[in-house]
Amino acid sequence: MKNLLSITDFSVQEIDQLLSVAQDIIANPEKYNEKCKHKILATLFFEPSTRTRLSFESAMLSLGGSVLGFSDANSSSASKGESVSDTIRVVSCYSDIIAMRHPKEGAPFVASMVSSVPIINAGDGGHNHPTQTLADLLTIKTEKGRLDNLTVGFCGDLKFGRTVHSLIEALARYKGIKVVLISPKELTIPDYVKSDVMDKNNMDYVETTDLEQVMPQLDVLYMTRVQQERFFNEDDYLRLRDSYILTLDKLSNAKPDLSILHPLPRVNEIAVDVDNDSRACYFKQVANGRYMRMALILKLLGIE
Ligand code: NCD
Repeated sequence: MKNLLSITDFSVQEIDQLLSVAQDIIANPEKYNEKCKHKILATLFFEPSTRTRLSFESAMLSLGGSVLGFSDANSSSASKGESVSDTIRVVSCYSDIIAMRHPKEGAPFVASMVSSVPIINAGDGGHNHPTQTLADLLTIKTEKGRLDNLTVGFCGDLKFGRTVHSLIEALARYKGIKVVLISPKELTIPDYVKSDVMDKNNMDYVETTDLEQVMPQLDVLYMTRVQQERFFNEDDYLRLRDSYILTLDKLSNAKPDLSILHPLPRVNEIAVDVDNDSRACYFKQVANGRYMRMALILKLLGIE
């Protein structure tokens, strides 16, 4: 049985297949609307979410399946002290596939050890978020026509931003990717991502604090929110939260075909005027997330 705990659970070839299925779903949605009839997706969100949970639910409903679950740990037995393992053992009796989000790194892995149905990691603490990566990859592929030979800037909270860690892991396996890491000194990419992902794959990367200086090189700019919930100290958050605010002014020396991505929710990192610029792709990214989750559910359930 296959799970999606980290994006490296899929080979590049499997990711390419998911991208093709998602493109086919976009072109022929009616072909897919009964594929998951009588199948149940459980969404277990021990940590708040809007788009990821609704995206999963919308994906399953669009495939003709049903959904159940909870959106808040306080409304589950976790609030009575139940362990993740017990919750998963129980829910795998009620469902065919589980998407879970948890504040603790590694919780989906623990779940996968006891589950009798496939587990999807919908975000574990500051660690990974592989289904956001699927949405990001489809967006880059659609906008740029390729997933290789690109200069990709990551800007904001690279320390706690799990979407950043997962997307770098995915891109490390494509050729000719250059990564530009733009963050305040306090929020640089974790050492394990450097050693185990970027160095290991001989990825070309640079670190900087200056967004405007590197802007002209970028093909893709991935903006991120400063992850307030992972800070120990409110003062640090307040000091760092507005480190980078993307405005039309700052885009004046960007490539005309730059693609601006953001996993959302946005707080202040992108001025709303940028939304109307043709380079803004973050709402298309939301739509792509749903198609990729549909493709993923089909794959993990073994449905053609
Ligand atoms: C991201 C997450 O939860 O990590 N959001 C999402 O799933 N689209 C990014 C964030 O919360 O900043």
